Amino acid sequence: MKVSVDSDRCRGHGVCAALCPDIFELTDDGYAEARNPVVPDDRVDAAADAADACPEHAVVVT
Ligand code: F3S
Repeated sequence: MKVSVDSDRCRGHGVCAALCPDIFELTDDGYAEARNPVVPDDRVDAAADAADACPEHAVVVT
């Protein structure tokens, strides 16, 4: 699984980083980005939950 954050959609709600701080971080601007686009196998479920929880549907999972 790979994740990324669509910067056009992200509004800085921070749910992704709160749920998965090892996968997402907030930049100084307050928007999220993926720390590492490749999600470890043992974090796939958590990353999927974070994607589902984003109110802007800004987390892209491939
Ligand atoms: Fe942005 Fe959604 Fe995370 S709005 S900060 S990608 S919860």
